[in-house]
Amino acid sequence: MELDLRTVMRHFATGVGVVSTFTPDPGAPGGRRHDAITVNSLIPVSCAPPLVALFLRHGSLFLADLLASRRWGLSILAAGGQDTARLLARSRPGRQEVLGALPAAPGEHTGALLFEGPGWMECALADSFTVGDHLMVVGTVLATGVRARQDPLVFLHGSMTSAGAARGPKTATAS
Ligand SMILES: Cc1cc2nc3c(=O)[nH]c(=O)nc-3n(C[C@H](O)[C@H](O)[C@H](O)COP(=O)(O)O)c2cc1C
Repeated sequence: MELDLRTVMRHFATGVGVVSTFTPDPGAPGGRRHDAITVNSLIPVSCAPPLVALFLRHGSLFLADLLASRRWGLSILAAGGQDTARLLARSRPGRQEVLGALPAAPGEHTGALLFEGPGWMECALADSFTVGDHLMVVGTVLATGVRARQDPLVFLHGSMTSAGAARGPKTATAS
């Protein structure tokens, strides 16, 4: 049987978030060079202790920074965050070009950037496991926050859309 994981997974809707971390850089404002990438692999793992996991591609420059800092921020994006998600899915030079212009502020518990959206969390590295071509990064959740409820950004059928649009037009019911 031929395995076509990508094609079957196109039908599995996920949320979209931004994970951020930083690396020491004496030349940068605040002594840190921040970085952030778009992710859809966030999963809740445990409530007590509070743990979440992300899957980051081996060889990712962002992953190398995260493993060194052992701290990251995770911001859940709303439908209006589509442009942010696209910009932060670029390669590092492209991301660095736009990062300073995106509305974000360092989190109190990690110093990693938190972006606009309905919710955020700050995490410390708890463990990591190689799983195929990705590293499963498990984080202890240090702090969480929620803002006003918004239509979430959804990744489905290979593109980003709002949850409302993903639901599609309501089908008429026969009377
Ligand atoms: C919707 C979406 C979801 C993504 N999710 C992940 C993810 O879960 N893990 C990952 O490693 N990259 C993911 N990416 C790719 C990253 O955003 C980014 O392009 C990549 O990590 C850059 O690699 P670098 O750190 O080597 O520059 C996703 C991209 C998009 C558009």
